[in-house]
Amino acid sequence: MKKILFFIIPILSMTTLNAADINDNDIETMVETLLSKMTLEEKVRLSYAQSKFSSPGVPRLGVPEVYTSDGPHGVRMEINWNDWGHAGWTNDSCTAFPALTCLAATWQPEMATLYGKMVGEEARYRNKTVLLGPGVNLYRTPLNGRNFEYMGEDPYLASQMCVPYIQGLQSNGVACCVKHYALNEQETFRNHVDVRVSDRALYELYLRPFHAAVTEGGAWSIMGSYNQYLDQHATHNARLINDILKKEWGFDGAVITDWGAAHNTDEAIFNGLDLEMGSFTDGLSTEAPINSYDDYYLGKAYLEKCRKGEVPDSIINDKARRMLRLILRTEMAENRGFGSMNSPEHIAAARRIAQEGIVLLKNNGLLPLATKDGMKILVVGENATRSLCAGGGSSELKPRDEVSPLRGLKERFGDRCTVEYAKGYESGRSMFGMVDELPQALYDSLRNEAVEKAKDADYVIYVGGLNKNHTQDCEGGDRENYQLPFGQDRLITELLAANSNTVLVIVSGNAYDMPWLEKAPALVQSWYLGSEAGHALADIISGDVCPSGKLPFSFAYQLTDYPAHKMGAVGYPGVSPDKLPQPFGGVEGKPMNSAELLKAAVKGWKGIDFCKEPGNGAKRNETEIYGEDILLGYRWFDYFKTKVRFPFGFGLSYTTFSYGKPAINGRTVTVSVSNTGNVAGQEVVQFYVGDDKASVIRPVKELKHFEKVALAPGETKQITYTIDDEDLKFFDDTQHKWVAEPGKFKIYIGSSSKDIKGVVGFNYKN
Ligand code: BGC
Repeated sequence: MKKILFFIIPILSMTTLNAADINDNDIETMVETLLSKMTLEEKVRLSYAQSKFSSPGVPRLGVPEVYTSDGPHGVRMEINWNDWGHAGWTNDSCTAFPALTCLAATWQPEMATLYGKMVGEEARYRNKTVLLGPGVNLYRTPLNGRNFEYMGEDPYLASQMCVPYIQGLQSNGVACCVKHYALNEQETFRNHVDVRVSDRALYELYLRPFHAAVTEGGAWSIMGSYNQYLDQHATHNARLINDILKKEWGFDGAVITDWGAAHNTDEAIFNGLDLEMGSFTDGLSTEAPINSYDDYYLGKAYLEKCRKGEVPDSIINDKARRMLRLILRTEMAENRGFGSMNSPEHIAAARRIAQEGIVLLKNNGLLPLATKDGMKILVVGENATRSLCAGGGSSELKPRDEVSPLRGLKERFGDRCTVEYAKGYESGRSMFGMVDELPQALYDSLRNEAVEKAKDADYVIYVGGLNKNHTQDCEGGDRENYQLPFGQDRLITELLAANSNTVLVIVSGNAYDMPWLEKAPALVQSWYLGSEAGHALADIISGDVCPSGKLPFSFAYQLTDYPAHKMGAVGYPGVSPDKLPQPFGGVEGKPMNSAELLKAAVKGWKGIDFCKEPGNGAKRNETEIYGEDILLGYRWFDYFKTKVRFPFGFGLSYTTFSYGKPAINGRTVTVSVSNTGNVAGQEVVQFYVGDDKASVIRPVKELKHFEKVALAPGETKQITYTIDDEDLKFFDDTQHKWVAEPGKFKIYIGSSSKDIKGVVGFNYKN
């Protein structure tokens, strides 16, 4: 009490506030001081937008406005005040950092710290209060058009990578906005699909990275997603926001809607929403009514209810407090830097993260390229020259410079070799959901030209894959199938037949079919690599950098190997609610029962009449069941012994590693890893925990620790992992608590989730 009075007295006597008046310890005091001086109208006005990307402060008291920007891979170009058009500024070109899939593939939290710090400096320089990211939804289907913005299929990996990103970003006095909370694992029907999931899967998988972001990362804001959960939109969902996020986890930051995700004033008021953005648009159209902000759900409708006494002061003050806290932590923070833009450090960081995240999937010795003077290199594929920072939806970027793969390869090899280019295929333009259909004759002539030229080259480097067009890796729609588009399978097959020295580089944020894999001597998984894409790729192909990325998600053989697709339309993309097969309808408005879901999944869903017919969005309430429950990604493939093309955690190097026999002493597992090859390299040592005998079905193993270790040729290092009780637990949805059962656990030490180098036992007594 004394402390509060001490601060209130000097501040009340001021008319405006200065940064020097504030320090972190004072934030709560300042919040209360400001709140006590604000009118009802001022409090309410904090909770809804004043433009497409900003919300007001309290001008009378000198409390600054909130400026948000996408996120998460760089600071987006300026958008018009009232619509989605590009503002056309000339001073808003940024450094594009690699997509978050690439960051996850580095398996190196230090890269996430660097990423967050650098992107935060750019956001700070551009005067942004909140950067809209990182995205931590999990990889449930390879069709999800936004997987490239997320961090893969494993909640532990995503948690380990998002926490340092958030801390690095927020160290600049710029808030993160972790998205999309929660259960937004697809774009099809994203505005309304009602996700049914058990509490066990919710807590063990889908909420885990959000929980880490809040409790370990200290996230200052979080974005409520478009979809529904328990028949209520997630952005103002009583359970997700009030019960779990704010009460269970103690989140003290602001809940911001996804743009246009609010649907109802009462729910917005009472279910924990703090800031409404982007209403009355579908997130893509440019037809927002001009200056209709007061008509937002938390606009005058909210104010009127307050005036009528229908909203308790505790709720009005709680929303205002959270918004003030956000502003005090950012705009009004003492000692925050000024930020910087496109600095050499930013460019270097973008290149470094890309180098660390590129994954070598196959190599029969063709890589690194052994070029000699006068050799001919043919580069084929549209992605060798196309901008891959443009498009993709809200994560689009306008980089100051984007080094294309062709440019990067020419710079690296051009002094000794001739580097020629043939396009090979073309994807056409895509505007607002429409993709150009190109004539077959064009495909044929581009393909024939590339194949002819390939016959004559010493090396062919193919750079293809997906792109940021609608129905590729792009927000607002999912992919239509598991194949590479634009006739690439045929083109790749013919190139491999024409020239056996063909290196395949596939750019994507998703897994895809590879009918040509057996014939391919070398395959590189490149993500969307940002400004320094071409340099980073050339670093790997030339061997200047030894590849060390590992997959953050599994590559299955076919779409129906993924459980979401095995189930039929009920598992993805959702069916109309009257088509829900029993017993899968569950009880409306209640979480599903994990044990029942798993029992049915283990029986291969026999006897259940799955709906084959997906909803069509007409009813706007399609329902979808996460019927694989806790068996997501490798957890499923392991459990059912389903072969995958490339497992979670997989990635090759130009050197080789050998593992010693692991040992356990008490709770500490130790393993030695040696570089047995001729070049320096890095290995990601992965520790998975499994509980064979449990009262519930558990995954065979789950990632609980990893370490990326750099080793010179001949060098050996000891890697340790200390088992924590938390690593042994499952979420018991019947008791609503985490439980570790006594008994024997296995610790698997691997180079990937499939390549297990050793196993040790651990006896747990509680
Ligand atoms: C996306 C968000 C994004 C927001 C603002 C929405 O359509 O889902 O991820 O931050 O738009 O651009």
